[in-house]
Amino acid sequence: MFLKRKEETAIERFLNHIFCLDNLELLGQLPDSSIDLIYCDILYNTGKCFNDFDDNLGTIDQSLGFYRPRLKEMARVLKPTGSIYIHCDYRLSHYLKVELDNVFGINNFRNEIIWCYAGGGIPKNDFPRKHDVILRYSKTDNYFYQPIYHPYSKGTLQRGRTKVKGKYAEQGLRKEGTPVNDWWDDIKPICSPTDKERIGYDTQKPKALLERIIKASSNVGDVVADFFIGSGTSLVIAKELGRNYVGCDINPRSIDVANQRLKGVNCNDL
Ligand SMILES: C[S@@+](CC[C@H](N)C(=O)[O-])C[C@H]1O[C@@H](n2cnc3c(N)ncnc32)[C@H](O)[C@@H]1O
Repeated sequence: MFLKRKEETAIERFLNHIFCLDNLELLGQLPDSSIDLIYCDILYNTGKCFNDFDDNLGTIDQSLGFYRPRLKEMARVLKPTGSIYIHCDYRLSHYLKVELDNVFGINNFRNEIIWCYAGGGIPKNDFPRKHDVILRYSKTDNYFYQPIYHPYSKGTLQRGRTKVKGKYAEQGLRKEGTPVNDWWDDIKPICSPTDKERIGYDTQKPKALLERIIKASSNVGDVVADFFIGSGTSLVIAKELGRNYVGCDINPRSIDVANQRLKGVNCNDL
């Protein structure tokens, strides 16, 4: 357990557990202002029936009818210092942006993160659609954010240094590296059947993506929630990074797969 403060008792019984539930049901049981970071890789409404789940919410109105009460509940359970990341694609991103503006307030929009990737089919008549959209909001102005940096390449470091009295001094380079901005093209999706990370759950996301999000928007001991866990990638990384987690999925196979992965994380490695 990574409990941080004594007064956070109401959330305690949910911490470091995952539940086989409709997320609206779990959300309804969680106390107000109890979660530091919410990441949800939602149903994109592709219309596809995957092996593990049916990604079909119907029309845009029906989709928004599904998401509206869930987003309101997510806003209720988020702490004033918290952040929420909603991972989707072009099918719903613009509609969800409007919905999130209404629920969280337009001034609490923080980023539209574009996650670019290669691979998959190439259409004949269109530019290939090769990115997902991750909408990031806070609940107030007083949100936690830890900038993430790309380390400098060897070449940049060499060019940015001069030799003074036999030692190299850095010239005009920030010591941390280059700040990661809102388009991410350095994280590969899990496409290949031979990918080492592959668990075999449809639409599994790469660990590096979740590591970036969790490091940017939470601290050790914070509570990370995912209400569409799938194979549990977000919670595995939360545990690896010493955060508390809570999550759910409506599919019993997701709970089995995620529990197996979580069991394999050794917190003593921290
Ligand atoms: C896009 S997948 C998540 C994949 C995950 N990010 C991963 O890395 O494996 C979405 C998940 O949401 C679940 N889901 C769909 N409707 C749900 C609901 N009402 N409540 C809880 N989970 C739901 C599906 O079963 C599916 O596992």
